[in-house]
Amino acid sequence: MSPQRTVAILLVVTGACAPALGGSAFAAPGDAEAGRALFAAKQCGRCHRPPGEPGIGPALDVLRRPQGEMELAGRLWNHVPAMAASLAQDGFEWPRIGAGEMADLMAYLLGDAARDPAPDLFKGQVTLLRKGCLKCHSLRREGGPVKPDLAERRADYESAAAWAATMWTHTPRMAAMARQQGLSYPRFVGDEMANLIGLLRSASRTAPQGSGPASR
Ligand code: HEC
Ligand code: HEC
Repeated sequence: MSPQRTVAILLVVTGACAPALGGSAFAAPGDAEAGRALFAAKQCGRCHRPPGEPGIGPALDVLRRPQGEMELAGRLWNHVPAMAASLAQDGFEWPRIGAGEMADLMAYLLGDAARDPAPDLFKGQVTLLRKGCLKCHSLRREGGPVKPDLAERRADYESAAAWAATMWTHTPRMAAMARQQGLSYPRFVGDEMANLIGLLRSASRTAPQGSGPASR
């Protein structure tokens, strides 16, 4: 199928002519002080050091800068392979982060939902195709065989922190599967994550529901 045709089909199935549904206004605001403590407790500080101290990752003051929450969710997604490889090498377990903890971490890193644009659903469709999500997953049964179908209604489409927490758990296995299949691991810049999640949220709200659990 040509990319143009796929986009045309997506436009129809996602009802992209409907007005874009609002941003991530549903999440409880994170607590930056709690986030500071979590940053240490979740081992982030092992690699992200204060300026002037050598660290494996970008310095703490680079991480902590005003940014959109979905933009930050995209950055967290990007850095999974490098972090997973480095942690595994040193024999550390992948840190578990719940949605509430993620909201606190994001507040500490100056993530702000108001800095994310209202999602552009057309760009979201282009992102969905370009990032290769449909090589593994389906959207309303069009695409690959890996569960879940991305049009299933999920609570984590409603907030950047919940989405980032799900992806934090999911991306190490996804990165491993991409490696096995010779697919490149998708990376996100700028507004791409905000547009993609806006699209998936819109698709899931307009899809016939009843297939599978909403979210964990
Ligand atoms: C084992 C080392 C390591 C640990 C532990 C680690 N990181 Fe990173 N982090 C990196 C590396 C390396 C990069 C840059 C590489 C990349 O983006 O692929 C990075 C990049 C990032 C970025 C993106 C920076 C940017 O501006 O694009 C964020 C945000 C981030 N880390 C947050 C965290 C948080 C939050 C934790 C703790 C839960 C954490 N990191 C733990 C190594 C680590
Ligand atoms: C190389 C194959 C592959 C690609 C590409 C891929 N995924 Fe996944 N995805 C998986 C696998 C495997 C799982 C199940 C992982 C697990 O159980 O931890 C999964 C799980 C998920 C889940 C459910 C997570 C949960 O915990 O409920 C969501 C949502 C998801 N993927 C979204 C996406 C999006 C959005 C993209 C594109 C940006 C994408 N995936 C690209 C393989 C992939």
